[in-house]
Amino acid sequence: MSLCRCSLLCLSILLAIIEEHLFVDSASDKELNLGPVINITKHLSFPNFSFNNYPRISNDVRLLGSAKFSNEKGTLQIPDESQAIDLKHQAGRALYSSPIRLLDPHTKIPASFETTFAFQVNNATNFSSDSGHGGSGLTFIIVPDEFTVGRPGPWLAMLNDACEDNYKAVAIEFDTHRSPGFRDPNDNHVGINLGSIISTKTFNVSDVGVVLNDGSVHRAWITYDGPRRWMDIRLGSNDQDYPTKPIFSETLDLSPYLKEYMFIGFSASTGNLTQIHDVLSWNFTSTSQAFLRIPSTETCESRIMVEDSETTSNKKASAEPPGSFLIFVAVVALILVVLLSLYITSKCKHDQSSNSINIMLPEKKQRPRPPNKPHRFTISEISSATRCFSEFDVLGNDSRGVYYRGKLSNGCQVAVKRFSAQFLNSQGLDKRRVLKEIGSISKIRHPNLLPIRGWCQDNRQVMVVYEFFTNGSLDKWLFGVGVLPWTRRFKVVKDVAEALSFLHSKQLAHKNMKMSSVFLDVSFRAVLGDFGFVLSGNDSKQFESAVSQKVDVFEFGVFVLEVIAGRKRLESEMDQNVKDLLDFAWRMHEIDEKVKVVDGRMGSVINLKQAIRVLEIGLLCTLNESKGRPCMEEVLEFLSMETPTPELPPSRPVALFPYNSTTGLCSGYSCAPFK
Ligand SMILES: *[C@@H]1O[C@H](CO)[C@@H](O)[C@H](O)[C@H]1NC(C)=O
Ligand SMILES: *[C@@H]1O[C@H](CO)[C@@H](O)[C@H](O)[C@H]1NC(C)=O
Repeated sequence: MSLCRCSLLCLSILLAIIEEHLFVDSASDKELNLGPVINITKHLSFPNFSFNNYPRISNDVRLLGSAKFSNEKGTLQIPDESQAIDLKHQAGRALYSSPIRLLDPHTKIPASFETTFAFQVNNATNFSSDSGHGGSGLTFIIVPDEFTVGRPGPWLAMLNDACEDNYKAVAIEFDTHRSPGFRDPNDNHVGINLGSIISTKTFNVSDVGVVLNDGSVHRAWITYDGPRRWMDIRLGSNDQDYPTKPIFSETLDLSPYLKEYMFIGFSASTGNLTQIHDVLSWNFTSTSQAFLRIPSTETCESRIMVEDSETTSNKKASAEPPGSFLIFVAVVALILVVLLSLYITSKCKHDQSSNSINIMLPEKKQRPRPPNKPHRFTISEISSATRCFSEFDVLGNDSRGVYYRGKLSNGCQVAVKRFSAQFLNSQGLDKRRVLKEIGSISKIRHPNLLPIRGWCQDNRQVMVVYEFFTNGSLDKWLFGVGVLPWTRRFKVVKDVAEALSFLHSKQLAHKNMKMSSVFLDVSFRAVLGDFGFVLSGNDSKQFESAVSQKVDVFEFGVFVLEVIAGRKRLESEMDQNVKDLLDFAWRMHEIDEKVKVVDGRMGSVINLKQAIRVLEIGLLCTLNESKGRPCMEEVLEFLSMETPTPELPPSRPVALFPYNSTTGLCSGYSCAPFK
């Protein structure tokens, strides 16, 4: 027993020695380098942004995304009107090309700064009737790098990944669009955004008589006193004096959102609606304090000596043992002591199992989990995220369950699919199996697959937590108001084909391929989600997966027809001879009138040849398996328009489509095997 205690004591003394040695070393280093306090100031002034007056402008201001210097107006313009034909969903930034020191890392005191800029929000001049006036707004941003463009739409080009934790950025937004998801009060407000697109504070600027997007030139003044941590924001008309009344003047600690050096400038974006943001002039001045760094003579001398002569330094090392040697001895001793004490403890335990001794070794640190790695959520986490499954947070529902919108405690938006008890029971699902499937699908990543953030399960429920997509599912866009143009539809078809082909290449199947499983991100990239996770337990996995993949292809074919026709496969109010879209498409193919299937609402802005070709690919996917139904890899090749598509049979092969004619559902084994 006393031996055990003794070894523990030795151990702690050794640890203390090592720690002290290291600590003293680093502390003395620091003291040696810090000199007197000095002021660091930076001043920028852009009376306008015209090449004629200022040829070096493109060196000093860096444009990212859709942004340009408008020479005729002498402004900085976002989005770039000349380049983009479609001004919707554009995002751009303009940053001063050198970083500015905004935080003292030693004292954590932020820099003081003052900035003023004149700006204007206008309709696009080539304003076309299909893009309404609106758009998202402009921000003054402070960001950590000079090469990231944020997302368009409500993200104001401020954030690139909406869920990035601990993102160091500050923005003052001049927002002309109300995004309720981001808790905007109205479509005419100023907000302070600290590391997040959700504003910490917002101000209704109608109160100070400003309408941000009325086309007039406004001027903003932002002043920050770093040591006092005080911010003052004023907004007024460009031709009037400094407003006497601030819209914000309070303490605000920016230091958690700043790095020592940051980039400053502007960002702006458009969404479904477009507008042009112009910055006409800009001044910026900052002051921060730093400790003058002076070279430490000792460090230099020892370096030179090492380089000067290896042999002398070797001799020197052996003559007077340096710190590293002491540490080495200590470490060896420590290892010996640990081994000894482990041995003794095990012996002690063996001898007297009742009187056990715990060695106080530092606990093995759990490996930190990457923030986005799928993991298990608790019921209470999900419940609070969805406000107890509030009906206001329901995004949609189907035969399998209900979709909820949720907000995790870290601010990330998610979509939660809660499988209905009825569905789980009807399938006689083995929960372990379902969880295994969720696990295997959540491990894979593809830009066109909806990322799974985790799952949640207790003895009655199974839920899957997906990333949230603000643009919602495709059916909303395709069957709702407005018309999705052909280029977008074609892109969606290709994106979904990519996703399925990737899944199949991993020996997985989607098993729930339908319109409402396809979601659109802010730039209208399609991502496939709402995975099926349905398996009956008796067949071998490989066979199931192969069969399910074939079902996926069939359903993909139907999906393609729906996208082209802009209508659901079975629609009660459809005209009499188009009861079933699949039937109808085949009939039109037989009489060579496939044009009639194409959504007439797209008008003349459509590549009809391409649309017909895609329609044929869709029909191929609905063929009997033995009669030429392609696999997804082949479908991708056909869609690339480089490989010729095989000829369709002149008429529809008979009775090949067993599906439930009342619901139109063709899922699981009801469609398979098509032999
Ligand atoms: C640095 O700036 C502060 C206030 O901005 C001033 O009081 C101080 O004298 C300045 N120090 C030096 C060394 O210029
Ligand atoms: C914003 O201010 C205007 C004018 O003071 C007022 O009419 C409007 O209701 C306010 N909006 C909100 C959301 O508070």
